[in-house]
Amino acid sequence: MLVEHTGSTTYDAFTSVLVGDGAQVDLVHVNDWADDAVHAEQINVRVGRDATLRQFEFTLGGDLVRTSTNVDYAGPGGTAELFGLYFADAGQHFEHRLFVDHNAPKTTSNVVYKGALQGEGAHTVWIGNVLIRKVAEGIETYEENRNLVLTDGCQADSVPNLEIETGEIEGRGPRVGGRPLRRRAAVLPPLARRAGGRGAQAGRPRVLRRPDPQGHRPRAGREAERPGRGGAQAARPGGARLMTDSYERACALDEVPTDEALGVTVGEYDVAIARDGDEVFAVQDLCTHAAVPLSEGEVADCTVECWLHGSRFDLRTGKPTGLPATEPVATFPVEVRDGAAGTEVWVDTGRTLNGVTPQ
Ligand code: FES
Repeated sequence: MLVEHTGSTTYDAFTSVLVGDGAQVDLVHVNDWADDAVHAEQINVRVGRDATLRQFEFTLGGDLVRTSTNVDYAGPGGTAELFGLYFADAGQHFEHRLFVDHNAPKTTSNVVYKGALQGEGAHTVWIGNVLIRKVAEGIETYEENRNLVLTDGCQADSVPNLEIETGEIEGRGPRVGGRPLRRRAAVLPPLARRAGGRGAQAGRPRVLRRPDPQGHRPRAGREAERPGRGGAQAARPGGARLMTDSYERACALDEVPTDEALGVTVGEYDVAIARDGDEVFAVQDLCTHAAVPLSEGEVADCTVECWLHGSRFDLRTGKPTGLPATEPVATFPVEVRDGAAGTEVWVDTGRTLNGVTPQ
């Protein structure tokens, strides 16, 4: 079905599309209005069991164009593919809002919008909302928005939001951009704060990962066998053995991933355990910019990155290496020991290496 908008007018519309079970519908909107046209439209789509909707939206003209596409599913197996292309010129405002409600299991959504802007005052807004409900097991989802800003004076806003209510992951489980989701709920940041960072990228959802398939990372220290308070012998990587009396077992060394941190509880503090080669580090599991666990960020080059705004913290010193965080995070002494079941990581949260008082 092709819907083509041209001419000069003020246009307000509500469109409802029901895709029957097993059906396939291609829906094409061409918004090629005259320069003074105003267009506001809501498009509601319900995708039937094992049905497929493909929507193509082209916005090329108009003074103000704002469309909202809402998709949900009438049963399992449905697929929604939403593609958009827009080109905004000076003074034009184009806004595309998308909401995919994964309210049925084994459903798929794929949202890709691309745009270009040029001229003073050209403004585009893309909002991609995805909700994965508790019943929606085994779904796949992907969102992408890219913008080409061709001249000064343009603004492209890109806001992906992802909320996940299900913790039951089966098979491949929910995915964003091919990466598995392993978190019960996430509200993703609207924009990258640090260009080129490994954290949230403008226009792309940030996938929060947990190594445990149930989305629950055990706070290993709570279940760990507690050592006595005196006389534990420890060996640092490299071999020097120390006499200690206040370390507690945090986790097994092989539980610590190489590219992200492991969140554990040691004593009264949540601690992020991370490694850089053979070295193991422990920092308080709390970004100093806001209450975000650092263990959910990525680890690289002896830093851990806060996923929310992209500040990195040096694992050795705890100092932030970039804004917006300005305060260092507490670093705790670590020892790597040979235990009965293998190599273990022990942490002393009774003191800090960098003099920072844990929060
Ligand atoms: S919460 Fe902002 S950098 Fe961590």
